[in-house]
Amino acid sequence: MATGITVSNLTKRFGTTTVTKQLDLEVAEGEILVLLGSSGCGKTTTLRCLAGLETPDEGTIRFQDKAVFDSGSRLNVPTHKRNIGMVFQSYALWPHMTVRQNIAYPLKVRGLRQAVADGWVDRAADLVHCGDLLDRYPAQLSGGQQQRIALARGLVARPELVLLDEPLSNLDAKLREQVRTEIRELHQELGFTAVLVTHDQDEALALGDRIAIMRDGKIEQCAPPDRVFTEPATEYVASFIGMSNRIEWTRADGGWRCETGGRLGLRDLGEVADDKVVSRIRPEDMRIHRSRPVEAGHSVVFDATLVTAAYGGRHVDVTVQAGAARLHVRAGSGDEDAWIRTLSPGSPLVVSTPLASLHTYPA
Ligand SMILES: Nc1ncnc2c1ncn2[C@@H]1O[C@H](COP(=O)(O)OP(=O)(O)OP(=O)(O)O)[C@@H](O)[C@H]1O
Ligand SMILES: [Mg+2]
Repeated sequence: MATGITVSNLTKRFGTTTVTKQLDLEVAEGEILVLLGSSGCGKTTTLRCLAGLETPDEGTIRFQDKAVFDSGSRLNVPTHKRNIGMVFQSYALWPHMTVRQNIAYPLKVRGLRQAVADGWVDRAADLVHCGDLLDRYPAQLSGGQQQRIALARGLVARPELVLLDEPLSNLDAKLREQVRTEIRELHQELGFTAVLVTHDQDEALALGDRIAIMRDGKIEQCAPPDRVFTEPATEYVASFIGMSNRIEWTRADGGWRCETGGRLGLRDLGEVADDKVVSRIRPEDMRIHRSRPVEAGHSVVFDATLVTAAYGGRHVDVTVQAGAARLHVRAGSGDEDAWIRTLSPGSPLVVSTPLASLHTYPA
């Protein structure tokens, strides 16, 4: 069983600070919605409002067709009656309880004695591959094990809705990928609805059925991962989803001119009404050349100088200075591109990007 969520007009203030601003959000039944946004934009506050741990100032929250919060009628269903599993950013395990007692805690709070007798605790521990750790205390576990116990505790009561606040942030890269897969598998098996907070774009792309990019207390775009990745709705979303290169264009002499010294024809940026626009480009979509490519049709080309080249295994992250702009290029590390790492800082080179890789927004 799963619960859909409808949040309308949600405003939450702390003193004079307004954290969420008339926020609207829909989460479909059985969906994993990822809330992605920079530090302080209101992600945890939004989750806590859903959980009933914060009281919003305005708005409504509905689970399926039942309101759990309504500022108009002063309805506020308490946390323990919302049937939610929570996994906090800090694992928040009880240090004086064993793993078994920690996982069993939500069952105890809800008075689900029969569930304990029926082995739900062991089942939850098995789901996260921690069945052999039940008699230990949290201090006797690695960080990754603690994280998985927190996950088991969030899921043990088989809630219809699971709220996860940066559940993987404290794990190393390998474990993060492993637990990420486990969350996906658990979701397929149990079918709950989930809202998961992260600031990691890879995690958002891998886990979300849809991603909501949050900025300053509002949702900028909410769409499936491939849509967000290929068609960011705003420049902010583009920057958040990995398009770290930013180029400003000004209309001049019947074309477009930019601070990097690049020039484009009037039609090259598509139909644009403004006189100043900004393009965002992924480092993966830029190329490095020793000299100006002969065939440069349908691309934009900049003269640049090398700043740094950092080896990354299969790729090399190259930073160049092009006019007033610093640009980042992810180049290959194979034989063909080996020359890049032999250059010394300050060496002249040329960078290019296909016009189709420019994502252009009003400045
Ligand atoms: N109890 C509180 N009292 C006053 N201000 C608060 C309180 N809780 C959060 N805030 C403020 O609300 C804003 C949003 O906080 P929130 O914890 O929701 O951010 P976040 O998006 O989860 O950030 P992070 O990624 O750093 O966890 C911040 O400016 C924070 O300082
Ligand atoms: Mg937070």
